[in-house]
Amino acid sequence: MGLLDGKTAVVTGAARGIGKAIALKFASEGANIAFTDLVIDENAKNTEKEIEALGVKAKGYASNAANFEDTAKVVGDIHNDFGRIDILVNNAGITRDGLMMRMSEQQWDMVINVNLKSAFNFVHACAPIMMRQKAGSIINMASVVGVHGNAGQANYAASKAGMIALAKSIAQELGSRGIRANAIAPGFIMTDMTASLSEEVKTEWAKKIPLRRGGSPEDVADVATFLASDLSSYVSGQVIQVDGGMNM
Ligand code: NAI
Repeated sequence: MGLLDGKTAVVTGAARGIGKAIALKFASEGANIAFTDLVIDENAKNTEKEIEALGVKAKGYASNAANFEDTAKVVGDIHNDFGRIDILVNNAGITRDGLMMRMSEQQWDMVINVNLKSAFNFVHACAPIMMRQKAGSIINMASVVGVHGNAGQANYAASKAGMIALAKSIAQELGSRGIRANAIAPGFIMTDMTASLSEEVKTEWAKKIPLRRGGSPEDVADVATFLASDLSSYVSGQVIQVDGGMNM
């Protein structure tokens, strides 16, 4: 028996990276998986097949999480296809790094829209379904830089701080309807997002991590599984750092 048997999870931006690891872990615990990404290309189709191979229903949907109408439509489609939504993981995210004084308005808007507005869009569309079911778990993917800030990432850090405050606010507003909301703040996790960082930056990060290694997407997926499942049924409004003990 799996921790998430009979539940349906929506994971945004899950064709690869942390989102994919979460989708696979949830599926291995019995959840049916609806995931989104900007395009459902060959890679996303392969992700869909890998999830299905775990014996659950899985479907990838092309949608831009930053777009309000797109999100309302895709959540409607998912609800029609799966019949329920028990877990929402707001995972889609991007970086457009730069020092504040050199940051363009476009860099700012893009990161805030993809990383933060996307979560508003999905909560707005999924919460009414969860409220009717009188239960739900919402997980916002934040970051340690959303807790501590980071030079060169003002847009990204602000978006991730927003994800934490959004989760805490939803927890307060919707707790009486049986809906829990929490945030995960990963540290340095080895994915495509961090692959482009310079060796110098990676070495600096590694020095700050007591466990002396970067995290894997699976390290984050394990914590997401705890927050999605009834193991955390009395946990809401929290932010859990998954960072190898690093305090920035
Ligand atoms: P990634 O770049 O490997 O994967 C992100 C996925 O989101 C991609 O499949 C991408 O196509 C999708 N995506 C981007 N924009 C989208 C949009 N508008 N609509 C739908 N999908 C979209 O990144 P990674 O590392 O897996 O990150 C996942 C989440 O974890 C992000 O929110 C990121 O900010 C967060 N995070 C990652 C850390 C790391 O060290 N890798 C650390 C802390 C947080």
